[in-house]
Amino acid sequence: EQNVGLVGWRGMVGSVLMQRMQEENDFDLIKPTFFTTSQKGLPAPRVYGKEGAVKDCGVLEDAFDIEALKQQDVIITCQGGDYTKDVYPKLREAGWDGYWIDAASALRMDDDAIIVLDPVNRDVIDAGIKNGVKTYVGGNCTVSLMLLALGGLFEKGLVEWATPMTYQAASGSGAKHMRELISQMGAIHANVKDKVEDPATAILDIDRQVADFIRSGDYPKDQFGVPLAGSLIPYIDSQLPSGQSREEWKAEAEANKILGTAAAPTPIDGLCVRVGAMRCHSQAITLKLKQDLPVEEIEAILAGHNDWVKVIPNDREVTMEDLTPAKVTGTLSIPVGRIRKLTMGPEYISAFTVGDQLLWGAAEPLRRMLRILLN
Ligand code: HSE
Repeated sequence: EQNVGLVGWRGMVGSVLMQRMQEENDFDLIKPTFFTTSQKGLPAPRVYGKEGAVKDCGVLEDAFDIEALKQQDVIITCQGGDYTKDVYPKLREAGWDGYWIDAASALRMDDDAIIVLDPVNRDVIDAGIKNGVKTYVGGNCTVSLMLLALGGLFEKGLVEWATPMTYQAASGSGAKHMRELISQMGAIHANVKDKVEDPATAILDIDRQVADFIRSGDYPKDQFGVPLAGSLIPYIDSQLPSGQSREEWKAEAEANKILGTAAAPTPIDGLCVRVGAMRCHSQAITLKLKQDLPVEEIEAILAGHNDWVKVIPNDREVTMEDLTPAKVTGTLSIPVGRIRKLTMGPEYISAFTVGDQLLWGAAEPLRRMLRILLN
């Protein structure tokens, strides 16, 4: 059994990772040690092996204790970028040669790190392992979800360019932001409840009161800084000199790194927008293909790429039922639909896709990378 250290397992992404590792019986295959930034010596969480057998994980170790970390063959961290920037260099300088699997973006674009999304880039991962690469980083959620949906077209080299316009969930900003979104929704309703329930009230009076409330100091917005519920936020992450937001910059940079096409990158650029969904990111993508392919062939290429992508026919009823955050949340399913030819010309294709930002967008690629290392 390999020694596997887990850091940041209590946060939102870490908790989803733990849940998935439990579901897939990953703990049966490893000797886990749980690290903490604040509770050294307390009992480690209870994890279960096959048939519910409890696995003794001892006590929590100090996540800043380089000697304790050095005992691990593999470290998986969801602790965040500041932790990575602090601890990772010290650990490598101390001569540690183990595998570092990281959810944070800090090391993502390093030349000696590989971005993991094995249904899309298993070849890149396998080559990395063979060549002694020891650092494997999960991709940005939006990028990973787009590539799982459109992997078939990218794999066949059919994409001339792509422009993803995103509808990103509150979870991408963090747990507190998810809570705030719910508070915002509730506060709006509470403010106007009496009028909504009275059928005699004019809708424009209700609307005016909601607008006044959303703009008022009583509307809860400490986390987002601006309204999300009843509105949207057309900017995600920091501002870059290019005019892109950092989230937008990641699309082309990370996607081409994942695909192994960074030397001759496919242009991928669009706008990233926060909307009032909980944990599913959606994206409307315009693609220019290199060939004029029939829609049925495009659908077949997409559907055949991996076990999670699911083509939704471009039909109103099924689209409204199946191609939504409400449907996809909490699942590994990657539906992609609204596939049709745009009026700009036969190579111009639209697509809409939805994916759980915490599962395939964050935790799942990490635990799958661990599995690859254990095989
Ligand atoms: N940056 C993403 C977002 C989440 O804000 O939605 C993390 O990949």
